[in-house]
Amino acid sequence: MLSPREAVRTLPSYHPPLAGRDGLRLDFNENTVGCSPRVLQCLQQLGPEQLARYPEREPVEAAVADTLGIAAAELLLTNGVDEGIHLLCETYLEPGDEALIVVPTYSMYRIYILAAGAQVIAVPAEKDFVFPGDDLCTRITPRTRLIAIANPNNPTGTVAPAEDLRRIARSAPDAAVLVDEAYFEFYGESMLATRNEVPNLFVARTFSKTYGLAGLRVGMLVGEADQMRAVRRVSSPYNVNAVALACLPEALGDQAYIQEYVSEVRESRARLERALGASGIQFWPSQANFVLARVGAASSFVELMRCRGILVRDRSSDHGCEGCVRITLGPRAHADRLLTALQETLEELGIAQGASQR
Ligand SMILES: Cc1ncc(COP(=O)(O)O)c(C=O)c1O
Repeated sequence: MLSPREAVRTLPSYHPPLAGRDGLRLDFNENTVGCSPRVLQCLQQLGPEQLARYPEREPVEAAVADTLGIAAAELLLTNGVDEGIHLLCETYLEPGDEALIVVPTYSMYRIYILAAGAQVIAVPAEKDFVFPGDDLCTRITPRTRLIAIANPNNPTGTVAPAEDLRRIARSAPDAAVLVDEAYFEFYGESMLATRNEVPNLFVARTFSKTYGLAGLRVGMLVGEADQMRAVRRVSSPYNVNAVALACLPEALGDQAYIQEYVSEVRESRARLERALGASGIQFWPSQANFVLARVGAASSFVELMRCRGILVRDRSSDHGCEGCVRITLGPRAHADRLLTALQETLEELGIAQGASQR
């Protein structure tokens, strides 16, 4: 057998539980009702010609940049945010470099940093998962070449103040600072406008969550034009497939659909937080489409919810998340089902104190 590079030999494997996901899927922070009907219509109109040709990314990239009010040279469409993270690691990390992340956070930062042969410096969140802005600044060294921050963070739903993010980027001028805004639409605040003030800042967004296109694999990476030129050199010219490129303008064009979805999810989030509070279950107020809750017996909770047709994610092995599950929110009808199952499950576990309050 061939021997992989040393960094790969010691790489932890990440196997998200994708098998057997029947039921109401509140386990991966996906859109629970799917994409805009305009996207489905577009899919039906695709012909063999579009599939036979290599995909042309640039025109769609220019259109997306226009929608965001930025120059096309500042934006790269990617195969999901995951590819954006991977490209940044490949562009900026040498073996032995240091990369800072906050824990708990999204798992793929660690994987791509380690795969590049760099060292992960994990900075624990403060009590109640408050963003550790000061601690992060003290961990910056001349070897720090990447800082990856999910804002809102996954799995906590907590956010980092914009001032902290600016301060961190300014304190680490030799590091690529990635602000991963995968859940931007549920929060509403972005660092996009700051990219010109702080040239080492990158912002990533995805179409996997709010837009309901996780299966198409499309996201974007935005940064200062000169830096993006370097990142582009690492990327395949065909990184985003033709189907995703055809659908993207339709998905972006139907903002009414997106706004309606986001507004219902926010309402569902408030309902879930009220129910958890009424049951005396610890949770952390979230700015994303999910809530992290400390239910205690996380694996039993997940199983009992599964028996009721609802999938949620056990996060109890994440740093500081002992006994925690992460529950994704969907629109009203899905929140109704969730809250009924939650009430029954808490009663079965003997920890409900009145979750029926909606
Ligand atoms: C913070 C964060 N970034 C990125 C991703 C992955 O996004 P994509 O599907 O665009 O690769 C996720 C998915 O859970 C996430 O939580």
